[in-house]
Amino acid sequence: MDSKMYKLGMIGLGTMGRNLLLNMADHGFPVAGYDKDAAKLEMLSKEGLNKPVKGFALLDEFINSLTLPRVIMLLVPAGKIVDAVIDEVQPLLSAGDIIIDGGNSHFTDTNERVKRLEQKELHFFGMGISGGEEGARLGPSMMPGGDIKAYSYVRPIIESIAAKVNGEPCVTYIGPGASGHFVKMVHNGIEYALMQLIAETFEVLKTGLQFDNKKIQQLFSAWNESRLQSYLLEITANIFAYQNPDGSYLLDQIKDEAKAKGTGKWTTQIATDLELPIPTIDQAVAMRDLSKYKSLRVEAAAIYTKEDTTFEINTNDFVKKLEDAYYFSMINIYAQGMHLLSKASADYNYSLRLGEIAKIWRGGCIIRAAFLENIYSAWKKNPSLSHLLLDEDVSTIIKSTEVAAREVAVKCMAAGIAIPAYTSAVNYFDAISSAALPSNLIQAQRDYFGAHTYELTGKEGIFHTTWNKAVESK
Ligand code: 6PG
Repeated sequence: MDSKMYKLGMIGLGTMGRNLLLNMADHGFPVAGYDKDAAKLEMLSKEGLNKPVKGFALLDEFINSLTLPRVIMLLVPAGKIVDAVIDEVQPLLSAGDIIIDGGNSHFTDTNERVKRLEQKELHFFGMGISGGEEGARLGPSMMPGGDIKAYSYVRPIIESIAAKVNGEPCVTYIGPGASGHFVKMVHNGIEYALMQLIAETFEVLKTGLQFDNKKIQQLFSAWNESRLQSYLLEITANIFAYQNPDGSYLLDQIKDEAKAKGTGKWTTQIATDLELPIPTIDQAVAMRDLSKYKSLRVEAAAIYTKEDTTFEINTNDFVKKLEDAYYFSMINIYAQGMHLLSKASADYNYSLRLGEIAKIWRGGCIIRAAFLENIYSAWKKNPSLSHLLLDEDVSTIIKSTEVAAREVAVKCMAAGIAIPAYTSAVNYFDAISSAALPSNLIQAQRDYFGAHTYELTGKEGIFHTTWNKAVESK
């Protein structure tokens, strides 16, 4: 047997790493895994029985078992560990070898690593992988960015393990540098906002309409058979069906404090840096943070007791409106994420193909949804479309759901139910579709107190006024 026989080596044999390796092995690629943890190696050998996959406990044996040029994928926690692993393997590698970081690394770290490893004649590329444990095993959506020649080399493996939609793999070369990790970060920002939207819908159904878990489960399942179909809605319906042996619902016992690993926060931070508004994603990040202030919330709730939050309305009519409002908000969330991608593409020279990104998000990833088909088609029709809401077909949907989105927002706000994703979507839509905004007043205020100057419509130049003169002369 050739000692250098494995086409790809995985470092980090947690569930994601193992599942990806098993997926590759199932597609006929001989692959190797390395982890310091003996228990993980044991699991790989059990799960990979009769498959072309082998685990190694020694790094040099692992490296020497790989075909040349070597392809090494890292699935280790983002941050310092990635650098530590790179430092450990790099002396054992040869010029032309390829390292793929499949974790959720911050794209600025990926930029640094690309540059650092280029000097060692190694190809480094960041590849966002979405789909969780199941996706890794059965077909994820992948977002590789970096050296295109290196990608072409590993492309057959990557495409074969990807989720497929209409026979096409949910992976495409994203662009240069850290664009793969950037796009994955925005994917996660959208993920946060969609999750928040669903959580708010739960609150409206529970508090406003007094639906029990069973009714919520039935509604989410029904929605999932419609234009609202999405992976997140599907798993949410399943969560509402999950009962403990004593008949109680596990969901009802889970603490209402949401955690996060940071990708949503990064999306918000970068969007602010790029001066590109994504308010619904921002709200989703803020709400996860706010949820953690449980004791403060309890204290405030005792002071600001709410009147009856139940709606006095025709339930069926309201549920129809809620469906419209959900669709409207969901579209605005995707629109914000896509807008951020187009701004980053211009500012970082990523040359992103937004249609192709929507295409590979149609399957395998966490934000997959029937609506991705509409996004794909919008950019297919017009590759230089500057905003999703400008697409004719999307605008038809928005116009037909807009009134209900407003009604739902008003009703919930009047009843004291917090729905920041729903309301921010309406506000975002209203602002982004306003030919005139009151921002002229902000310019005047800035100039008044700080001589920051302003520009005039219809007249070139920068102007300043001593504003309080007008008041003093009265
Ligand atoms: C995916 C997910 C995944 C992410 C988690 C956790 O696309 O498969 O986005 O990459 O790590 O879902 O994110 P938070 O812990 O920040 O919620």
